[in-house]
Amino acid sequence: MTAKPRPLVAGNWKMNGLKAALGEIEAMARGCDAALRARVDLLICPPATLAGAAVGAAGGLIAIGGQDCHPKAAGAHTGDVSADMLKDLGAAYVIVGHSERRADHGETSALVRAKAQAGLRAGLVAIICVGETEGERKAGRTLEIVGAQLRDSLPEGASATQVVIAYEPVWAIGTGLTPTAADVAQVHAFIRAQLGQAMGAQGAGVRILYGGSVKPSNAVELMGVANVDGALVGGASLTATDFLGVAAAYR
Ligand code: 13P
Repeated sequence: MTAKPRPLVAGNWKMNGLKAALGEIEAMARGCDAALRARVDLLICPPATLAGAAVGAAGGLIAIGGQDCHPKAAGAHTGDVSADMLKDLGAAYVIVGHSERRADHGETSALVRAKAQAGLRAGLVAIICVGETEGERKAGRTLEIVGAQLRDSLPEGASATQVVIAYEPVWAIGTGLTPTAADVAQVHAFIRAQLGQAMGAQGAGVRILYGGSVKPSNAVELMGVANVDGALVGGASLTATDFLGVAAAYR
């Protein structure tokens, strides 16, 4: 039996945050006392421009991650950031395959897998995002879509602590809408079963995050669902008050 995974509450700042926002990370670090940190891992993924300074602001109390990485370690790829660069500045995680990158940049699951592999090679934990669109849910295709994204994005040979899966229904992101607890339970149980097939016993130890309109007022209910091992938070991760309010679900 593998122990239940340690929860992770992760913030994805997306394309938000100028230097002044580092004060929020300092406030998060001040606000996460030892009792909270004993129960949950905390992570902020700021824009790459702030990531180095964010490592200092977080003071080792909150992990820092990237929002994307290139599949290669270095080379002629103007504007891209590699996993090795993120590792070098003190990041511990990298998000790959967020639906906004799949949509805005046409990222395929094959590319997402290559990015996740690059993250693992660099010594980062890869947070692999999956999730269906509203149309796909209405057509009854949620598990088919999530299953295919997971199968094609998961790097081979990963151990339980090297990858995190984030289930983010596209229609719940930034909309204030969330699936019912029963819907979340169904998809997370499905992901857990798929991880078991792909990774054997390691699958039980992989953290499966829910993401999409998580906020302090719904965090307790969503984090209480079976196989939900934390949250990937967008808008509510931009301020220390809201982010710590979500993390407080684990107090
Ligand atoms: P919101 O929490 O703003 O809905 O964003 C979720 C998300 O996309 C996190 O990666």
